[in-house]
Amino acid sequence: MSFIFAYFYDNLMSKTEEACLKEWRQKLLKNVSGDVLEIGAGTGANIEFYPKNIKLVLAEPDKNMRQQIESKISNSKLKTTIVSDGTAENIEAKDDSFDFVVSTLVCCSVTKPERSLLEIKRVLKPGGSLVFLEHVGAKQGSKRRRWQNIINPFWKKLAGNCHLNRDTEASILSAGFKINDIKRESMRKTIPIIRPTIRGMAVKP
Ligand SMILES: C[S@@+](CC[C@H](N)C(=O)[O-])C[C@H]1O[C@@H](n2cnc3c(N)ncnc32)[C@H](O)[C@@H]1O
Repeated sequence: MSFIFAYFYDNLMSKTEEACLKEWRQKLLKNVSGDVLEIGAGTGANIEFYPKNIKLVLAEPDKNMRQQIESKISNSKLKTTIVSDGTAENIEAKDDSFDFVVSTLVCCSVTKPERSLLEIKRVLKPGGSLVFLEHVGAKQGSKRRRWQNIINPFWKKLAGNCHLNRDTEASILSAGFKINDIKRESMRKTIPIIRPTIRGMAVKP
C-alpha cells in the first residue's frame, strides 16, 4: 500500500467510521478476552475498543499503516500489546495459540483468502472464535454485483488489493468454521460498491 493511501486512510474512512463502523467495532470487540490476534490491523482503528486486560498481538504487513499503530497504542489503556509485520497467510504462531482472532475489513485484501482462513483456524484454540467485519460481494445476479465485478480489476490496483466481490461468508464456512452469529448490513456514508457487509463470530469446532 502506498504511503499516501496509508497516510490518508483514517481521513478517508472517518465519515463511515462515525456513521456505523465505530459502533460495530465496539459491539464486536467488547467481549474478547485472553490471547487475541488481530490480522491486518491497519492504522489501529480497533485499538480503542479492546478490553484493557487482554494479551493482544497486532499483525500488519504494511509498514506505512503499521507506523500509525504505535501512537494509538501509547494513548490506549491496553496492558500487553505486541506489533508484528506478519501476513494472514503465514501467521507466526504455534497451533492453538489464541482465544480470538480479529479480522476487520481484511479478507477483501489478503492475497489468498482460503489459505488465510485456514491459518486463522490453525492458530485458534479449539472453541476459539474468529471475530469478523468484512465488506463483501453483493447478492449473486444483482445489479450491484455486476458493477462490483466490472470495477474490481481497477479497484484492487488502486486500493491495496481490496476486492469488491469476495464471498467471505462462504470462505469462512469452507475453512471449517461454524458461524454462530452473523449480521448483514449496508455500510453507511460510503460508495455503493463497498456497502454490503457481514459481521459476527465464527467458532473453531
Ligand atoms: C482496508 S484495511 C483495514 C484495516 C483495519 N483492519 C481496519 O479495520 O480499519 C486492510 C488492511 O489489510 C492489510 N493486508 C493486506 N494484505 C494482507 C495480508 N495478506 N495479510 C494481512 N493483512 C493484509 C493491509 O495492509 C491493510 O492494513
